Amino acid sequence: MTLVRDIQEADAQDWRRLWAGYNDFYESSLPTEVTEHTLRNLLDPASSLIGRIAEMDGRVAGFSVSVLHESSWTTSPTCYLEDLFVDPDFRGGGVGRALIQDLIDLGRMRGWSQLYWVTRATNERARRLYDKFVQADNFVRYRLTL
Ligand SMILES: CC(C)(COP(=O)(O)OP(=O)(O)OC[C@H]1O[C@@H](n2cnc3c(N)ncnc32)[C@H](O)[C@@H]1OP(=O)(O)O)[C@@H](O)C(=O)NCCC(=O)NCCS
Repeated sequence: MTLVRDIQEADAQDWRRLWAGYNDFYESSLPTEVTEHTLRNLLDPASSLIGRIAEMDGRVAGFSVSVLHESSWTTSPTCYLEDLFVDPDFRGGGVGRALIQDLIDLGRMRGWSQLYWVTRATNERARRLYDKFVQADNFVRYRLTL
C-alpha cells in the first residue's frame, strides 16, 4: 500500500538520499547549496515548491517536486511537476503512478487548472507510465541558461 503525503523535516535524510539518486540518474551533480536551498523551500509552506513523499510499508520510497505558478491562459494556478523519482528498490510497484495520481487529486481539490511535466523522449520507462495518464503533445522545449 502506497501512502503519499507532504514532505516533513523528519524526511530530510531520506529525501537527500533519493535526490542524490535522482541526480545520478541525470548524470548531474548539483552543489550542496542548491540541494539544501531546494529542501528548505520544500519544507516552507510559503514557498511555491510542493514536495510530496511516497511511503511504502512505512519506508520512504519516492518523491515528487512541483512548482505552482500563475498562468496567462487561466485564472487558477498551474502545476509543473519538475522532479519525480522512485527508489530503485520500489520500482514497478505502483509508487510512480501513485505520486502522479496524488498531484491530480490534490490539484482537483485545490482548484488548479492544469498539471504538466516534461521528460526525455528516450525515457521509455517513465513514458510508459505517463502515457497511461495522458498522451504527450507535440511541443518541444527551448532552454537557455542565463
Ligand atoms: C519513472 C519512475 C518514476 C516510475 O516509477 P515506478 O514506481 O517504477 O512506476 P510504477 O510502478 O507506478 O509503474 C507504472 C507503469 O510504469 C511502467 N513500469 C514500471 N516499472 C517498469 C519496469 N521495470 N519495466 C518496464 N516498465 C515499467 C509500467 O507501464 C507500469 O505500469 P503497469 O505496472 O500497469 O504495467 C521510476 O522508474 C524512476 O524513478 N525512474 C528514474 C527517474 C525518472 O526517470 N524520473 C522521471 C523523470 S521525468
